[in-house]
Amino acid sequence: MSIGLFGFGTVGQGFYQIMAATGKASQIQAIGVKTVDKPRPAGLPFTLDPDVILNDPSISVVVEAISDLGAGYNLVREALRRGKHVVSASKALLARHLPELHELANLNGVSLRYEAAVGGAIPVLDTLSRYLSHEPVTAVRGIVNGTTNYILTRMEREGLEFADALADAQRLGFAELDPSADVDALDAQNKLVLLSYHAFGQYVTLESIPTTGIRSIGRSDILAARAKGCAIKLVAEARLDPNTGQVSARVSPQVITADDPLFAIAYERNAISIETLWSGPHLLSGRGAGALPTGTAVAFDVQHIHSAYPKRSSAYHPEVERAA
Ligand code: HSE
Repeated sequence: MSIGLFGFGTVGQGFYQIMAATGKASQIQAIGVKTVDKPRPAGLPFTLDPDVILNDPSISVVVEAISDLGAGYNLVREALRRGKHVVSASKALLARHLPELHELANLNGVSLRYEAAVGGAIPVLDTLSRYLSHEPVTAVRGIVNGTTNYILTRMEREGLEFADALADAQRLGFAELDPSADVDALDAQNKLVLLSYHAFGQYVTLESIPTTGIRSIGRSDILAARAKGCAIKLVAEARLDPNTGQVSARVSPQVITADDPLFAIAYERNAISIETLWSGPHLLSGRGAGALPTGTAVAFDVQHIHSAYPKRSSAYHPEVERAA
């Protein structure tokens, strides 16, 4: 397999390290980057020209891990048009263009995969799309932003100020380039679009998801919740209405009780609870941010590149629920 990688930030470096550790670094034929003025390891095949990757017919897989939404969108589209499989980690661009990009991938007979875009190392999209493909999913609910969970945890457990906890999250590579995307929950909103698509087969637009971030949460709120045995978490949830088949989704900080499966999810860990009709609730948890966790998810997708996500039917059958 011959791979072209776009981006050498947190995700790109994590992916490269994993490929190197598993003896597969030589599969990465070229690494497209935007500037030459950053210190980078010597001997790697960096290029400033995206056409070095896009025009190379021997490169069959493009990994897109850049933070520029517009540039990422163009690269993904071009790669798919040229018959290359794409693995993307860019939740913001995927959330905006998902149906169109899937259509383009189908038209060109290639796969588009993006496990790293939701929940870091947690294989939640593959679980929804394949393992749970045969049964209706009725709700997804989770902590899907590592930065805000890290900030809330450190404020609660270590008494840190918001700004100091955020600075550490940035230093550790959890936060987006513009961390307001994390703090204002836009990152979680993007991820909920992807989760809903794979859970219910419905494309829920960003505009239809009421979203509130954690800016207004102070330490006094956190301590007041703790005094009652509760915790404040940024929760993303989407639920299918059994009567109408419509999905309603929202992202907001919630005070949750100790018996909630999300209560114990701390620091940059993420967790997604999936409610299904027949097999009951599932809880997936793991590291939601950072170079190696997200790099692992990219490596998984590259390894399974020939297995495109099956499309989940958006049809909902209330009579199936009644029979269950
Ligand atoms: N900024 C994101 C987060 C990175 O904190 O969860 C992983 O998607």
